[in-house]
Amino acid sequence: MPPCRSNDQMNWGEQKAMRDFTKLTGVERSFDEDEIIVSKTDTKGRITYANEVFLRVAQYTEEEVLGQPHNLIRHPEMPRCVFQYLWDTISEGREVFAYVINRTKLGDHYWVFAHVTPTFDTQGRIIGYHSNRRVPDRKAVETVRKLYTDLRSVESKAGSARAASEAGLAALVGRLQEMGTTYDELIFQLAREGSRSSMAGAC
Ligand SMILES: Cc1cc2nc3c(=O)[nH]c(=O)nc-3n(C[C@H](O)[C@H](O)[C@H](O)COP(=O)(O)O)c2cc1C
Repeated sequence: MPPCRSNDQMNWGEQKAMRDFTKLTGVERSFDEDEIIVSKTDTKGRITYANEVFLRVAQYTEEEVLGQPHNLIRHPEMPRCVFQYLWDTISEGREVFAYVINRTKLGDHYWVFAHVTPTFDTQGRIIGYHSNRRVPDRKAVETVRKLYTDLRSVESKAGSARAASEAGLAALVGRLQEMGTTYDELIFQLAREGSRSSMAGAC
């Protein structure tokens, strides 16, 4: 049984155990097309800011998320290698776009199209990170979901978290080569196709 205490009385290990215990419901949550889910972190990925849309969709209070690692909302369907690519890129001072599935406090899930950027001080040093997320196109989500299933299957055969991440990244590079594209091209092709189909739908 999970510990019967409120989140602010539990330490991080206890909260993680509670989260792992909370079963995924399979229920998808959504947010409006004109809304943006925003969070900011320190350089270690601990949450320093979450806007009202973040809290509403993820089903947390501000007190529950501030100071917590961002993997608080990690969903098991996300391949490790996507987060490795994210961290490798932002820690080098570059931006990343990614399709991400997140879990809520109560075990629901929601897909986002995320833009993650480093924040610099006046000396050009990275002092934290910022993520803005919008509603993703459904067709893009279906394509990405298949790719992620594929990558997780590769990762699940590895012996450790690090080996899984590396095997996933190698598989991702291989898939992109087969498709004759790069990560950024694929992400933007999916986004462009999404905006074309939604414009066609509006006519
Ligand atoms: C600004 C920022 C936003 C992030 N947003 C998310 C997010 O929405 N969902 C998520 O699972 N991880 C997010 N991450 C990545 C997490 O820090 C973490 O790498 C990921 O959840 C994988 O955790 P794990 O290595 O414990 O499996 C974000 C990181 C940063 C710096």
